[in-house]
Amino acid sequence: MLRSSPPSFPPIGGDERGGAIAWIDGGPTVARQEELESLLRAAEPLIELAIAEDIGPGDATSEATLAADAILHGCVIAKASGVIAGLSVAAAVFRRVDPAIDVVAQVDDGQEVVAGELVAEVTGPARSVLAAERTALNFLQRMSGIATLTSRFVDAVACTPTAILDTRKTLPGFRLLDKYAVRMGGGQNHRMSLYDMVLIKDNHIDAAGGIIPAVAAARAAHPSLPIEVEVRDLDELRQALSISPPVDRIMLDNMSLEEMRQAVATAAGRVPLETSGNVTLGRVAEMATTGVDYISVGALTHSVRALDLSMEVTPPPLSPPLGGTKGGEAAMAVNLATHVARLKSVLSDRIVILGHHYQRDDVIAFADLRGDSLALAREATRTDAQFIVFCGVHFMAETAAILAKPGQHVLIPDPTAGCYLADTATLEPVQAAWDHLEVASGNAEAEFMPVTYVNSSVELKGFCGQHGGIVCTSGNAERVVRWALQRRPRVFFFPDQHLGRNVCKGIGIPLGDMLLWDERQPPSAEAIRKATVILWPGACNVHQRFRPQHVSDKRERFPTMRVIVHPECKMEIVDLADDTGSTAHIVRQVAAAPAGTQWAIGTETRLVHRLQQQHPGQLIMPLADVPPFCRTMGQITLQNLAQLLEGLARGEIINEVAVDVETAHRARMALDRMLELA
Ligand code: 13P
Ligand code: SF4
Repeated sequence: MLRSSPPSFPPIGGDERGGAIAWIDGGPTVARQEELESLLRAAEPLIELAIAEDIGPGDATSEATLAADAILHGCVIAKASGVIAGLSVAAAVFRRVDPAIDVVAQVDDGQEVVAGELVAEVTGPARSVLAAERTALNFLQRMSGIATLTSRFVDAVACTPTAILDTRKTLPGFRLLDKYAVRMGGGQNHRMSLYDMVLIKDNHIDAAGGIIPAVAAARAAHPSLPIEVEVRDLDELRQALSISPPVDRIMLDNMSLEEMRQAVATAAGRVPLETSGNVTLGRVAEMATTGVDYISVGALTHSVRALDLSMEVTPPPLSPPLGGTKGGEAAMAVNLATHVARLKSVLSDRIVILGHHYQRDDVIAFADLRGDSLALAREATRTDAQFIVFCGVHFMAETAAILAKPGQHVLIPDPTAGCYLADTATLEPVQAAWDHLEVASGNAEAEFMPVTYVNSSVELKGFCGQHGGIVCTSGNAERVVRWALQRRPRVFFFPDQHLGRNVCKGIGIPLGDMLLWDERQPPSAEAIRKATVILWPGACNVHQRFRPQHVSDKRERFPTMRVIVHPECKMEIVDLADDTGSTAHIVRQVAAAPAGTQWAIGTETRLVHRLQQQHPGQLIMPLADVPPFCRTMGQITLQNLAQLLEGLARGEIINEVAVDVETAHRARMALDRMLELA
């Protein structure tokens, strides 16, 4: 059964039979094609080895039990949440075993999936599919495990400019695959191997007689290679910093947090600093707040926990039971849409479904109104439906619950769908900052207008309501900040530092008049008195992923391409972009553009993919090479939407978003001030 010499590895993106692998990147993503081609070249010998060890002369069981002409359809399903990486490698395994097997990826590498989600479909001769299944999944599970762990580290430092790097602690032979998976998780690659960068460690330093002679020798031998030097203490750091021209990077080896802070102050931005050693998920955020530029994490690739994926071959039943049965998830994905449509028509005008632009396609298809957070908040005040079903993240449903009329109920299909950015600020530390402002200014409420981005908890909206403040969204932040500055001399903006900085800069406030709050080292009273804007140091882990390099890459390859980004992106991205605005603004700009317009869009990827589908006459692509997805937005699935609607159909209210009356009242004041603005 095993074909001894297949013609070649499958072309990426499908072959003449079509459907080998469906990539949804859109447009001629040359860099992506090249990346996948080099990945497959690296994977080819590993696949040969793996197939030889697992199948050898044949799959004894499948050949004995399955008819030679039987065709099988399998669904690769995620059994746990995580980030997918390695779909093209898994597809190459199937196709190496039998070129007649088709693999259709339902998600993209770098995409977050939830438990129960369909990852890929596999169709082909039953014996071949089952023979290849284990090996294909072994590659996919390992690579997805690396991408998943990387994304957790990247998320943990998302509020800082620090990048997460891998190391050479990869599985022997798997270097390129492991490092590709790190990139899919949002991490960056350190040197690939010993030949592409000089990394002078303690042993080299001791043998060469010190840092300075070691660097001189390396430079003489390899003038074109980047040089990194490891230092063990601040003395060695000073020596490394004294070298001219400067080395490319300095690694702080196993330093304490305090030593790292001192090292950052000593280097003062002259040479980028990397730290390594004893990096755990529990510690990494604290390490990043020291101000180091890079943190390298061996665990990303040396302690891999495979992502739980399996292939189900159960044919889809006609009427799937809801709630799931063993082996039934794939089948449910097929028929669920019909079921939800039926439930929706039964519930009729008792419900309204609101959907944010970042929702999955199959979910947003059922939204009566899709929009940005401003439009959805407005709709929540207008609808008379008894049940508002909110397909979005928790703060959005909470906002709707505050704005809803008496007797209306707001429900969310998954109440644990939070917002990373909203979680970066809670009432207690914001109150502590306010107390500092009070002491420094003498009267915080006269001096500072508290402004909370709508991506925040009800408590923070209540805080604003109580102190005469206001809520803003990305669609009206500029108007809101102007409103605030007409009433009080300064603004305290939380939780998104980037939105705050971008908007304030846009209305002409100099960067020097903006102060980033640091709760560990609160600014002096004098610094507070001088500032016009105090920014909370929160950020979105999705929009933080865009880097200036992404913009320059796109501009180089597509000189007339327009770059449009969400204002949650960092200031340097917004500055480089042609346009910035809320999700609704991005949707409107693309809709209004003539055919042939080229766009690189810096926001959540589900929206970008939808725009690609809706505007085939334009060339639309995600701004980043590994496009980011909002994990929590993806937690709303057709399945949990169906369960919620089923509950309503039988008179049961599931996942109601409840807000305490007193806090809701205060939050409502801040929301009403915003809604009255326009
Ligand atoms: P919009 O209001 O632009 O839809 O943004 C909400 C959001 O969460 C962006 O990350
Ligand atoms: Fe929150 Fe960012 Fe997701 Fe928007 S994209 S919901 S800000 S985590």
